[in-house]
Amino acid sequence: MSRPSVFVTGAASGIGRATALQFARHGYRVGAFDVDAAGLQSLAAAQPDIVTGILDVTDADAWARALSEFCPDGQLDILVNNAGILSSGPFEDTPPERHRRIIDVNVTGTVLGCHSAFEYLRRTPGAQVVNLCSASAIYGQPDLATYSASKFAVRGLTEALELEWSPHDIRVFALWPLFVDTAMTEEMSVGAVRTLGIHLTPDDVAEALYDATRGRAWGRVHRAVGWQARLLAAVAQGSPARFNRLANKWVTRR
Ligand SMILES: NC(=O)c1ccc[n+]([C@@H]2O[C@H](COP(=O)([O-])OP(=O)(O)OC[C@H]3O[C@@H](n4cnc5c(N)ncnc54)[C@H](O)[C@@H]3O)[C@@H](O)[C@H]2O)c1
Repeated sequence: MSRPSVFVTGAASGIGRATALQFARHGYRVGAFDVDAAGLQSLAAAQPDIVTGILDVTDADAWARALSEFCPDGQLDILVNNAGILSSGPFEDTPPERHRRIIDVNVTGTVLGCHSAFEYLRRTPGAQVVNLCSASAIYGQPDLATYSASKFAVRGLTEALELEWSPHDIRVFALWPLFVDTAMTEEMSVGAVRTLGIHLTPDDVAEALYDATRGRAWGRVHRAVGWQARLLAAVAQGSPARFNRLANKWVTRR
C-alpha cells in the first residue's frame, strides 16, 4: 500500500518544521515547502526522507508546479497551510507594504493553497486541509492588528470550505494555538504575551495537529491548542460582547 501524503507550507522552521518531522515519524510521505532554502536544507539533513522545495505561497504558478511535482499520481491526503508572518507594534508605525505582505502571505497564501490543491484533494478519499489559525482570531489584538485580521480571514475561509467541501469528502479545519515559542514570537512585544506568557512549543502544536488529523470528527471546525487557548475560546463563546471586549482590554494591556 502506498504511503499517505502531506504537503506542509512554511516548513523550514517552527511549527511547520515540527509538523513535517511529526508526519515523517508516522510514515507519511512529506512535502516540506518554504521560501527559506537554508532552513529546508537543515530539515532535509535531519530527515532525508522528506521532500523539500522552494515555494512562495503567494505565487499561484509556484503552487501549481510544487503540487504537480510532489503529487505525480494526482492525489494528496493532507494539505497543511502553515506559512505565516507577523509584525507587532503600533498599527500606524508599520509600513503599508508590510501590512500588505502580512495579508498576502497569511490570507492569499492560504486561499491559493486551498484553490491549487482542490483537484488533488477531491481525487483522494478522506482528504484533509489544516489551516493554521490563531487565538488572535478570537478577538482583535492591539499591536497585532493586521496579523489578527488575517487570522479572522483564515477562520472565515475555513468555516466556509468546511461546509462547501464536505460533499467532496474533504475535511477542512483550523488549529488555534495561543503563543508558541518560535522565531515568530522571538521579537514580539505585545501586552498579551506579557500577561499570558509563552507556554507552547512547536512540537506541542505538531502533535495536536497530527492527532487532529487522526480522528474524523466532522463538525469540529476549530481546534484550540493548549489549555489557555481552550479557556479563552470557551469564555469568548459564552460571554456577551461587552465582556469579551473588557477581558481582551485587560489581557492585552500595554
Ligand atoms: N508562534 C505563534 O505564537 C503562533 C501562534 C498561533 C499561530 N501561529 C501560526 O503558525 C504558523 C507558523 O508560525 P511559526 O510560529 O512556526 O513561525 P515561524 O516564523 O517559525 O515559521 C513560519 C515559516 O513560514 C515561512 N514563510 C514566510 N513567508 C512565506 C511565504 N511567502 N511562502 C512560504 N513560506 C513562507 C518562513 O520562512 C518560516 O519558515 C503561522 O501561520 C502562524 O501565524 C503561530
